[in-house]
Amino acid sequence: MGRAEFRTTAASVSGKFRKIDECELEIPGPFCLVIFGASGDLAQRKILPSLYRLYRHELLPEHFFILGAARTDMGEDAFRLAVREKVESAFPEDFSGTGWDEFAARLYYLRVDYEKAESCPPLGERIDFLEERHYTRGNRIFYLAIPPDVYEPVIANLGSSGLSREEGGYTHIVIEKPIGRDLESAKRLNVIIGGSFRESQVYRMDHYLAKETVQNIIMLRFANLIFEPIWNRSYIDHVQITASETVGVEHRAGYYERAGVLRDMFQNHLLQLLALTAMEPPALFEAERVRDEKMKVLCSIRGFDLDSLSEFLVLGQYGRGRIGNLEVPGYREEQGIAGASMTPTFAAMRVFIDNWRWNGVPFYLRSGKRLAGRKAEISVHFKRVPHLLFSSAIGRGGIEPNVLVIRVQPKEGVNLLFETKTPGSRVCLSSAHMDFSYRKTSSLTDYERVLLDCMQGDQMLFVREDGVEAAWKLFTPLIDRTESDVTARNFPNYAAGSDGPREAGLLLEKDGRRWRKI
Ligand code: BG6
Repeated sequence: MGRAEFRTTAASVSGKFRKIDECELEIPGPFCLVIFGASGDLAQRKILPSLYRLYRHELLPEHFFILGAARTDMGEDAFRLAVREKVESAFPEDFSGTGWDEFAARLYYLRVDYEKAESCPPLGERIDFLEERHYTRGNRIFYLAIPPDVYEPVIANLGSSGLSREEGGYTHIVIEKPIGRDLESAKRLNVIIGGSFRESQVYRMDHYLAKETVQNIIMLRFANLIFEPIWNRSYIDHVQITASETVGVEHRAGYYERAGVLRDMFQNHLLQLLALTAMEPPALFEAERVRDEKMKVLCSIRGFDLDSLSEFLVLGQYGRGRIGNLEVPGYREEQGIAGASMTPTFAAMRVFIDNWRWNGVPFYLRSGKRLAGRKAEISVHFKRVPHLLFSSAIGRGGIEPNVLVIRVQPKEGVNLLFETKTPGSRVCLSSAHMDFSYRKTSSLTDYERVLLDCMQGDQMLFVREDGVEAAWKLFTPLIDRTESDVTARNFPNYAAGSDGPREAGLLLEKDGRRWRKI
């Protein structure tokens, strides 16, 4: 039976639910998932283990199959064995022989040449054959876990061969970052994507959006009455967004040397966090409406004054140091990195949003590798109380302003810092923390969540074409300028295991503020 003969709608859910951690999750409808780059690192470390875990949690439908497509010449048994090894090492607690054979029986492999259009007909035939065997009703997902330089031919070939069409079922394409390396290349890629797929078929990944607490930003802001009335320039002094990592460049020297921290973390993850924090309430909790509001924020960010970079931007690169008890090499000593590399592994910057709500409120963004700790958080720093009644009694310069901290990772949760009287007769104030922690981390990882959403046709956690371009429009001139003159860089300028370069601290100090501890 050919694909067109399936008499189904493009329904992507099964109507069946499964309860995981007190949360009802809908099981997607039947699907076929083609992973381009299935023998590569991303597929083997993240995507395939995530699919196995979804299967173990009974979150996948009865009818599905996964077809790995990659350049590596290997047989199906070798592919299954490689996946098994990765799954076992990624989730040893979830791996038990039980269930593996059933999962493995749905794993297939086909060698393809990404650049050659001739690869598509055999791919199409294989999909048709397997669809019939697994009753997947024509629902297809193409996942690009391949190097970005082959995105264009793969997407164009899917289009020209007709594989991108939706007939009887849905066809979705998942595209990993980076979507381009500047505005021009992002636009070009979006044109290629648009030539083969409609926007409603396209799922541009930003795995930060799938983190539990990132989604909680929307709930916290708009499901509570108490935050929204004060979520503006009248009450908020500034906002800090930090994503710090203890890991170094790891095995990604080739990519990272060309990317640097501004492309790797700011243009995507940090801007997405900023947009969710700053956006207006959407009319509906629905993908298009939420993405519209985020888009308005991105378009309101004040363009950077490229002639005064040092006023708002600090770049850094790690040198040798210690992470815990471990001596670690400097960036320039890492494998595959040029001995005189000028690639920044750290950045801190001040950003303004020129709109009614945020006028004059600085957003400080910071991210880096090999820092003192691993954390991602958004902290909203409120203004000081307008009149300090207790100043004579408490005998110190003032009291701490309230801070609301949204912890994205680790220890996901929300914390409110407020002043309270300490027991005793005198007026004596101290800071207290009201802390909410997720009892345990969600049992779904970010990759598991986005895979489920894509199977269910929910684009909320994916970035729209205009969102990607707005982010590049903002960052491209800045990155170009920082790359055009690197002579002034005094790299390395922070030790691994530290809080980053000293200048990052000064960036806030000169505004009379200070960073939260990493
Ligand atoms: C990726 C970056 O997008 O995010 C990596 O390319 C970075 O350089 C990673 O390490 C951080 O993600 P997480 O989920 O570990 O915070």
